[in-house]
Amino acid sequence: MPVPKPKAVRSVRVAIVGGTGAFGRALAQRLHATGVDVAVGSRDETRAAELGAVYGVHGAANEEVVRDADLVILSVRSKAALEMARSLADAIGDTPLLSVAADLRFDAGAVYPGRLGRSLAEEIADVVRGPVVAGFQSLAAASLAQPEPPDEDVLVCGDDAQAKRLALDCGARLVAGRAVDAGPLAIARALEGLTALLLNVNRRFGVEAGIRITNLP
Ligand SMILES: NC(=O)c1ccc[n+]([C@@H]2O[C@H](COP(=O)([O-])OP(=O)(O)OC[C@H]3O[C@@H](n4cnc5c(N)ncnc54)[C@H](OP(=O)(O)O)[C@@H]3O)[C@@H](O)[C@H]2O)c1
Repeated sequence: MPVPKPKAVRSVRVAIVGGTGAFGRALAQRLHATGVDVAVGSRDETRAAELGAVYGVHGAANEEVVRDADLVILSVRSKAALEMARSLADAIGDTPLLSVAADLRFDAGAVYPGRLGRSLAEEIADVVRGPVVAGFQSLAAASLAQPEPPDEDVLVCGDDAQAKRLALDCGARLVAGRAVDAGPLAIARALEGLTALLLNVNRRFGVEAGIRITNLP
């Protein structure tokens, strides 16, 4: 179901692990601009603090920012996502985690899903205690970094209603379209594969493609 645009400023604290990357920075800026209490994390606490000062948000080591969070967004390079989740599991505790990662394989001028079995998000769910949701894979950092929110929808899936609600609420702040509940965590296989699809479209048309779900009520 689509989620209505948030009306009031919320005091939810969102920690972005790997907040120094292209996607993490774009998420931090846009969430902060809509009143979310954002903290950016890095393996390098100095780098995070410097970036945080530029964006007007808290910046610190990954281990520190996740401790006070209501939602952890895992936004490190995809190849490092599972290991990073494992290494932060104690610090994250029972806090919900949103995986934005997509495992990709680049070959012969095309982009392919990096895995054909379980999604990265499902594997991350195996190594942390709290609920895991997956989403935002169809958003491009470059689109999020534009002055206006991108004219597209955002998809989130997961098995825990409260965790999904938090992620959908953040998603609704990022786009001009809607944040759409796409179903259980197993749907992350499709969301992660969608990134490969969109990157092939981008290459074909020289754009930053996004998605819209039509015929919603
Ligand atoms: N870029 C996009 O348009 C986009 C769109 C949708 C989803 N995503 C997803 O968002 C995530 C981040 O994407 P990105 O483009 O921001 O990636 P990125 O810039 O390549 O990396 C993000 C951060 O990951 C950390 N990192 C890099 N290598 C690492 C390693 N070996 N171990 C631990 N941490 C490492 C770095 O932070 P520190 O060095 O500061 O620790 C880096 O700033 C990915 O999972 C991607 O699939 C990206």
